[in-house]
Amino acid sequence: MPAPSAPVLVTGATGKQGGATARALRAAGVPVGALVRDPATDRARAVEALGAELVTGDLHDRESLIQAAKGARAVFSVQIAPLTAGGFDFDAEVAQAVNLIDSAKAAGVPQFVQTSTSGAGRHTEMPGGEAVALTLNAKAAIEEHVRTAGFPHWTILKPSFFMENFLPSMTFLFPRGVAGGLVSVIKPQTRVSLVATDDIGGAAAAAIATPERFDGVALELASDYLSMTEIAAVLSRVLGTPLPAPDMTEEQALAAGMPAMGASHKWLNVSGPPARPESAREFGLALTGFEEWARQHLRAERLRTRG
Ligand SMILES: NC(=O)c1ccc[n+]([C@@H]2O[C@H](COP(=O)([O-])OP(=O)(O)OC[C@H]3O[C@@H](n4cnc5c(N)ncnc54)[C@H](OP(=O)(O)O)[C@@H]3O)[C@@H](O)[C@H]2O)c1
Repeated sequence: MPAPSAPVLVTGATGKQGGATARALRAAGVPVGALVRDPATDRARAVEALGAELVTGDLHDRESLIQAAKGARAVFSVQIAPLTAGGFDFDAEVAQAVNLIDSAKAAGVPQFVQTSTSGAGRHTEMPGGEAVALTLNAKAAIEEHVRTAGFPHWTILKPSFFMENFLPSMTFLFPRGVAGGLVSVIKPQTRVSLVATDDIGGAAAAAIATPERFDGVALELASDYLSMTEIAAVLSRVLGTPLPAPDMTEEQALAAGMPAMGASHKWLNVSGPPARPESAREFGLALTGFEEWARQHLRAERLRTRG
């Protein structure tokens, strides 16, 4: 059994969720091994600057994962479906997760923390298209593998819609820039479960600090729960420009520059993910309200739009 002072292996540390987890663990003084594909990138060096040790490996390469996981007290696991010419490859996402789960088990890692998505389960038809069902089914398959792998402790985090999707720099909901306004099929009255990725990192660090308390928990994770009208009002205040909540058909949104995958947001109008802030509060997790998040993260955009 690794010592409590042993490192935590964090995957995706150059990305949003893994990065937030690496920062939360380092802030708590926990040693981190960050799995990176290329230690020479600026993103990898920024993770190293947190005090993490870079461990080279690839989620497609089991041997590299077994070596990386040896001696770790826990693994934080995140995958992303690779984008291929035929669309998102969800089978590859599941294969990456299975590689990591099996490798961690083979290396004797006692705790596994998987990040999934709110509402993951077996779905056949979903409003918003096949991609929603495929992503939720892929996540469900990964969750099942975690549950049955035989780790002494495991936790599944099920985050909702990332607040980071509203960053104008991601051009996801602002395809025409802030001046062009919000573009989405999400209706003004639709309430959206939002999560700050820093809160995902906080939840992961809490699970790693107290494995027994979070053992066997599948935590639906939301930091805030607001209608698009309320979200637009926050964005208007913080970005200093009037941004009405859009009321668009899919055709109108596509014509206004919405990326094709934005159509998957139709799901939110019908049922949407079940995560609510109450579940995380029951575990005593600190949550970031959307306005607080926006004031922290959108300041640069606000200055740009004013400049
Ligand atoms: N956006 C949302 O609202 C939302 C909500 C719930 C769940 N999710 C889920 O969140 C996941 C994505 O998480 P994220 O946003 O944190 O990802 P992200 O910021 O895009 O980062 C992806 C990370 O994965 C690493 N990576 C990619 N392929 C790899 C491979 N073959 N081997 C090792 N590392 C690899 C990347 O490393 P490199 O630096 O090497 O590229 C990067 O660190 C998706 O599965 C998505 O379904 C998203």
